[in-house]
Amino acid sequence: MLRTHTCGELTAAHADQTVTLCGWVEKTRDLGKGGVFVDVRDRYGKTQLVVRPHLQEMLETAKQLRSEFVILGRGKVSLRPLGQANANMATGEVEILLDELQVLNASKVPPFLPSAQEMPSEDARLKYRFIDLRRPKMQQTLVLRSRIVKKIRDYFEENGFIDIETPILGRSTPEGARDYLVPSRVHNGQFYALPQSPQIYKQLMMIAGYDRYVQVARCFRDEDLRADRQPEFTQLDMEMSFVDEEDIIGMIDGLMKRLAREILGIELPLPLPRMSYDEAMRRFGHDAPDLRFGMELIDCSAWAKTVDFRIFRGAVDEGKAIRAINVPNAAELFTRKKIDELTLFVQEDFGLKGLAWLKCTTDGKLEGPIAKNFTESQLAELASATAAVPGSVLLFAADEYERAGKALYGLRRRLGLELKLYDPGQMHFSWVVRFPMFAYDAEENRWAAMHHPFTAPLDSDLPKLESDPAAVRAKAYDLVINGYEAGGGTIRIHDNVTQQKVFQLLGMSPEEAEHRFGFLLEALRFGAPPHGGIALGIDRLIMLFAGLDNIRDCVTFPKTAKAIDLMTEAPNVVDDRQLRELGIQVKPKNG
Ligand code: AMO
Ligand code: AMP
Repeated sequence: MLRTHTCGELTAAHADQTVTLCGWVEKTRDLGKGGVFVDVRDRYGKTQLVVRPHLQEMLETAKQLRSEFVILGRGKVSLRPLGQANANMATGEVEILLDELQVLNASKVPPFLPSAQEMPSEDARLKYRFIDLRRPKMQQTLVLRSRIVKKIRDYFEENGFIDIETPILGRSTPEGARDYLVPSRVHNGQFYALPQSPQIYKQLMMIAGYDRYVQVARCFRDEDLRADRQPEFTQLDMEMSFVDEEDIIGMIDGLMKRLAREILGIELPLPLPRMSYDEAMRRFGHDAPDLRFGMELIDCSAWAKTVDFRIFRGAVDEGKAIRAINVPNAAELFTRKKIDELTLFVQEDFGLKGLAWLKCTTDGKLEGPIAKNFTESQLAELASATAAVPGSVLLFAADEYERAGKALYGLRRRLGLELKLYDPGQMHFSWVVRFPMFAYDAEENRWAAMHHPFTAPLDSDLPKLESDPAAVRAKAYDLVINGYEAGGGTIRIHDNVTQQKVFQLLGMSPEEAEHRFGFLLEALRFGAPPHGGIALGIDRLIMLFAGLDNIRDCVTFPKTAKAIDLMTEAPNVVDDRQLRELGIQVKPKNG
């Protein structure tokens, strides 16, 4: 090693030792007769180097240093003079009086400084990712990521799991997003699909008798990107045989408890709280509710049946719902302008027609332009049903039950943040269970699997599989942290007959099912044990444990919302020769 120590470890205890440090120049200060001070940085911290004024040649070198030059400095650790210690710096008690200063490499003027207080633009950060990754926050996040993954691996190993790799080049898998395809050179016109998850392989491993499988698995999904999604991401994927839902949930409860204790220093009481899908949709309008604060959805449909107000009454008469939230302490904050802004938000993002509202005055009366449509007693009933108190603002959505719920969920999420209804440092873990098996896809006019088509129905709902698919609930469970779906899994169908029935319900003919998943159906005929599992989104988990709100900050080289890597400029065109070998001819999209 060129260095004896890192830039983050020297303290008064090292005084008088001769050390060699290497790192990047963060800043230099030329004090003239006082010499030149150089802050040198690596991922462990920074240390102050001092070039004393009588060392002429070294002074010349020091004066040429610019930000992000890579240097080596050798010298004696010395206590800083009285009153000059820096308590904000781990190495702030000491400085190095240099005997040697070498420039190991120069640097062009960087597009931004890793130490800058102000955040560089996202584009600059992604294009110059190697500089962005020098920022201490990024370095801390990646170190945290490494620690968490290590703890996860240790946990599963202690519990008897085997780490098993599954193919990246394979057949299309059924997680419901678009596949990334890889053309075959040997078989022109044929394609591999990158795995959306190792789902089928891990089920095959259960059939093969490896009853506890775990993998840190890279997954690929060509879907619309958001702050919590990347086209390429990592799952902690696991599967177990001879289990039911309790076993999988219990295993992950134990993992969360350990991570919360060892990473966050908090004791999670187990079991983690659980809520059914129906309850989550009723109370929060969403299947991954943020439980760090209240402001739950209130159903005012029954009350609305008793009123004449056209917008409410009309909606309930058409079988729609009137749902509301009670925003606390907002009466003064919510000016007309603010309400217009919120109205636009639910219209544009959720397709609501409008956003009716009432404010609760200091004497407990509900007021607002729509108040005139109701009698005194109707308003009093509403105030009591919504628990309105002085300062409350009631926001109403009149629409299909689900759409109204989604819009209020969006408002709740946004206002929870804006009005600081929770402590952003707090973490809340819970499970949402008993999802419906199927969701109706109105566009395609058929049933679709809510999770994936290998999910087992609740035993009690099995008889309804053909007669009433909408009412069939699944042995499915999602891990929810702070309003994010951090993981999802299910108990699987392990008999070929039920599996075929489900494929049929999903509109897949026996021939199509055989064509797409024949190998799985065949394997189910050869002694498949009862099994189930789950996958946690590692990138999301890191985002949540690091207190970040964007998954890109947890990934070394992420893609933009348009799925581009700005640094390497992938995707990109390839040589004609490569295309010829693959038997591929590219046509302009609209040509
Ligand atoms: P699911 O599709 O729910 O389940 O995925 C599991 C978890 O992976 C994370 N995740 C993502 N993270 C970042 N970017 C994405 N595009 C992305 N998509 C998903 C989420 C999610 O909860 N095979 C099943 C698991 C099983 O049944 O065992 C599966 O993949 O945190
Ligand atoms: P209007 O009579 O159209 O001026 O609407 C009166 C109030 O009801 C306004 O605040 C609208 O934003 C609101 N509104 C209109 N349609 C709906 C709806 N579907 N759900 C909730 N509020 C609505």
